[in-house]
Amino acid sequence: MVADPSVKPSPTIRTELPSRPAGPSGDGEDRRGPAAPATPEPGAMHAAPAPQIRLRTHAFDLFYGAHQALKAVTLEVPSHSVTAIIGPSGCGKSTLLRAFNRMNDLIPGVRVGGRVELSGNDVYAPATDVVELRRRVGMVFQRPNPFPKSIFDNVAFGLRLLGVRDRGELEARVEQSLRRAALWDEVRDRLGRSALALSGGQQQRLCIARALAVEPEVLLMDEPASALDPTATARIEELALELKARYTILVVTHNMQQAARISDLTAFMLQGELIEVGETRALFTRPRQKLTEDYITGRFG
Ligand SMILES: Nc1ncnc2c1ncn2[C@@H]1O[C@H](COP(=O)(O)OP(=O)(O)OP(=O)(O)O)[C@@H](O)[C@H]1O
Ligand SMILES: [Mg+2]
Repeated sequence: MVADPSVKPSPTIRTELPSRPAGPSGDGEDRRGPAAPATPEPGAMHAAPAPQIRLRTHAFDLFYGAHQALKAVTLEVPSHSVTAIIGPSGCGKSTLLRAFNRMNDLIPGVRVGGRVELSGNDVYAPATDVVELRRRVGMVFQRPNPFPKSIFDNVAFGLRLLGVRDRGELEARVEQSLRRAALWDEVRDRLGRSALALSGGQQQRLCIARALAVEPEVLLMDEPASALDPTATARIEELALELKARYTILVVTHNMQQAARISDLTAFMLQGELIEVGETRALFTRPRQKLTEDYITGRFG
């Protein structure tokens, strides 16, 4: 839960799309991993099931006023994986991340076209409940941004907004979220203290716990470790690897070594376009596009 739902999103002008029936309903995260297809194709009995696609964009454009920041981006993000987005400063990484939970709506003058889906549902459909969308698609930013409240109240914040009042339930869910964010052991005896007294790395894990508390399906992370020291960075990287068992993680990073360490898939962007996406090791060792090769070998950016 990152957005203050009392903030009214500014109107987003949407280019008209042919209407399409909504896809299968987003039924919450499947904790058991990708489901097998209901009717396997003949001869496909022994093939691994196709990964479930949690997030998808199709020919997605985004304009800030006259400036087109995303150009026909088509990307699929499988469930229970870490997908990294890399590319030089200003190429549109944060903008793309924010498209998935409509955080860009909060910026005046934003226009979008094309399609963004969460579990097959059109994120930009007029009927989309944006508060619910942001519960399902949590976000963690570059600089840890805990509220000036206690550790407990930070993690309980979104739950209280959702109407959870029962003290026992709040305590159980705060503990579970802090455990999942690998912070519980460090804070269990000081949950009433200010979150601002935590170290930067602890604050970032607290922000992750705050996002996890409302049971999202997706965690968007925008350079989550770039303000942290190497030890705290390593903890965030370990955490991303642990969390993918339960969540779908999309992480922006400037650090190609980090992308290589933590991600299953990597997407390379340049000047608003998605140049290449593929299995991380393959993208770094055998890029298909010359532009990708030039970037990963340090010729620009
Ligand atoms: N709020 C905004 N209003 C207008 N233009 C914006 C806004 N945010 C980003 N842009 C522009 O959109 C383009 C993409 O910006 P974005 O922040 O998505 O890039 P980025 O890849 O995340 O860069 P960085 O690596 O520096 O964080 C840039 O040209 C940027 O100037
Ligand atoms: Mg950015």
